Amino acid sequence: MNVSQATLDRRSRIRVRQFHHHAFRTRDMEATRHFWEDILECPLVGTFVETTDPVTEGPSNYIHTFFEMADGSALAFFQFQEGLYKESEIHGNVDPFDHHIALEVESKDAVMAYKDRFESEGYPHMLIDHGYCYSIYVHDPNGMQVELTTKVPETIEIMERHAKTAHEDLKRWLAGVTEANNERRRLRSGESVN
Ligand SMILES: [Fe+2]
Repeated sequence: MNVSQATLDRRSRIRVRQFHHHAFRTRDMEATRHFWEDILECPLVGTFVETTDPVTEGPSNYIHTFFEMADGSALAFFQFQEGLYKESEIHGNVDPFDHHIALEVESKDAVMAYKDRFESEGYPHMLIDHGYCYSIYVHDPNGMQVELTTKVPETIEIMERHAKTAHEDLKRWLAGVTEANNERRRLRSGESVN
């Protein structure tokens, strides 16, 4: 199933074109490189060494790396030289409801291939069938929650249907109507939430 003309028309009017990069702080760039380049196979395509903090404009020393995805967008990381590290509010693993990034892979087979790889590398992970996509979640070495997800045969139909009611669904929930409207969702146990 292809997306409808209405969806194509809606997207043609959006000025924000696509994901460019997402940045996160690390204390261990080599562990970060191993995860993103060796395990996820996103090549390191840039390491920028900077000596001025762009926020304070004071002297600093940090590197800014970019790991490329297939569409040319990237995951970026900062590491400050020891002693110049600015402590983050983030300690330990990030809860997916606080923040996560979701990256698309081409198939459920690709999701399962990453599952095997995370198991052999000792990374805890979880699979969730959201109904409109199928995902595996893992924390990278920095505690950032990463979701690798794939479209499923029902994705376009579900997303086009929900696009028609998204404002109405939002208003209803804000008004106190709390019943689920994601009837295809399956949690890890395989049980529907409805
Ligand atoms: Fe997500």
